[in-house]
Amino acid sequence: MSVQGEQAPQAPRDVDLTKPSSARIYDWYLGGTTNYAVDRHFGAAADEQFPLIKPLAMSNRQWLGRVVRAALEAGITQFLDLGSGVPSVGNVHETVALHAPEDSDPRVVYVDYEHVAVAHSELLLKEHGDWAGVLRADLREPETVFNSTVVNELLDLSKPVCVLMVSVLHFVGGGDNVPGVLNRYRQRLAPGSWIAISHITTDDAPEDGAAQISALAESYRKTQNPAWLRPRAEFESWFEGMDPVEPGIVHLTDWRPDEEEAVFPDLEKDEVRPFYWAGVGQVR
Ligand SMILES: C[S@@+](CC[C@H](N)C(=O)[O-])C[C@H]1O[C@@H](n2cnc3c(N)ncnc32)[C@H](O)[C@@H]1O
Repeated sequence: MSVQGEQAPQAPRDVDLTKPSSARIYDWYLGGTTNYAVDRHFGAAADEQFPLIKPLAMSNRQWLGRVVRAALEAGITQFLDLGSGVPSVGNVHETVALHAPEDSDPRVVYVDYEHVAVAHSELLLKEHGDWAGVLRADLREPETVFNSTVVNELLDLSKPVCVLMVSVLHFVGGGDNVPGVLNRYRQRLAPGSWIAISHITTDDAPEDGAAQISALAESYRKTQNPAWLRPRAEFESWFEGMDPVEPGIVHLTDWRPDEEEAVFPDLEKDEVRPFYWAGVGQVR
């Protein structure tokens, strides 16, 4: 589980049908159909290896929705979703469309380096007008993201933006210098912007669950996206220099829980609780 020094592979050049991809496997966990046989095989094995994986993906997706709603309530109407994935239930632009104040001018930019995720986002966004867009880029290159036409046309960087890094940094290695990457995003964001991060962990997990998710992370090494688990101290260090947004860094299910949430009724919240850290930092 050492993450120091290890780098994630280069962004995929083409659609690779020989190796499962995190975007398509995650789509399978969430019950989607934007995946190939190789992804479904991996997903089914993962489900056997760590039976909480599907509810965990669902609880992460719910957190994404809660963060977007919280940002809107805080007056932020621009969203930059890094590692946005294959469109699924509760996409950011859909939550924004439902909850943004009527007189606001909301904006959403999706960023992912996986072809399938970008292609399906493009298709979906065609129906939604020109206030949301998608960019194929590697989030480890913030300059590429900020210099892109879509970001420049849609986002006003002189105003706060909510940057979402939801369930994606565990696909970025220690050798990729996560704190450095985060710093480069932070420097470009207006004061009052948010950076929201969720990340898998074994902290506080029961022994058998910790062993299962560690074995699963090991299995991801055979995919296009090796995964790393991280302890709270490392996760916490990524928020240094930002102000914590209430309730600070907590297990994902404890972040402003919403008892009304019923999108995934089978979710065992107590069981999945220890496996994710979540936090939002506000740029000074
Ligand atoms: C598990 S999915 C998470 C999707 C979405 N953020 C969510 O939480 O529902 C991870 C996504 O991150 C993307 N990804 C991984 N590393 C990336 C990188 N370096 N740059 C851009 N996207 C990346 C994958 O292609 C995949 O779509």
